[in-house]
Amino acid sequence: MGIKTVSMVVLAAAALFATTTLQADEFTRADLDLWQSQYQAAVKKGRQVFTDPGLGTNGVVCAQCHPNAANTHPETYPKFQKQLGKVATMAEMINFCIMNPLEGKPLALDDPRMIAIQAYITEERRGVPLAPGKH
Ligand code: HEC
Repeated sequence: MGIKTVSMVVLAAAALFATTTLQADEFTRADLDLWQSQYQAAVKKGRQVFTDPGLGTNGVVCAQCHPNAANTHPETYPKFQKQLGKVATMAEMINFCIMNPLEGKPLALDDPRMIAIQAYITEERRGVPLAPGKH
């Protein structure tokens, strides 16, 4: 091995080590279990909110038009939304549906129900490749 090859190998090893160190975060099996159960709880709450007549004012619920979160296309966000006239996030579109078909008040972005709706919708589309901007 020439000196050049040796230094390349050393560099590659150093890079590999650096990457491994960066990826090695401090968490335990118990942490992972807790985070997963918190996430699953959000998905479950979202499924409930989808059929909650209290979300709007006219008794209409999300699941009437989006059974099992059908036709919500989370993988296409952000994208240009004709209804909003701009590039929008899915949360804005969720509020659009709360304000229009449900005749309700928009949710704050950090409202636990807004987060739960997004968890549920996105979980239902797990595995679908991301396609931001797609129509
Ligand atoms: C009366 C029927 C109806 C109800 C009820 C309804 N929606 Fe919609 N929703 C629509 C229509 C129509 C669109 C527009 C589809 C489009 O052109 O993007 C839409 C679009 C969406 C989109 C974007 C879909 C996309 O392809 O980009 C999301 C997300 C969404 N709705 C979520 C909800 C949620 C959450 C609720 C309950 C709060 C809800 N909708 C209630 C009819 C409804």
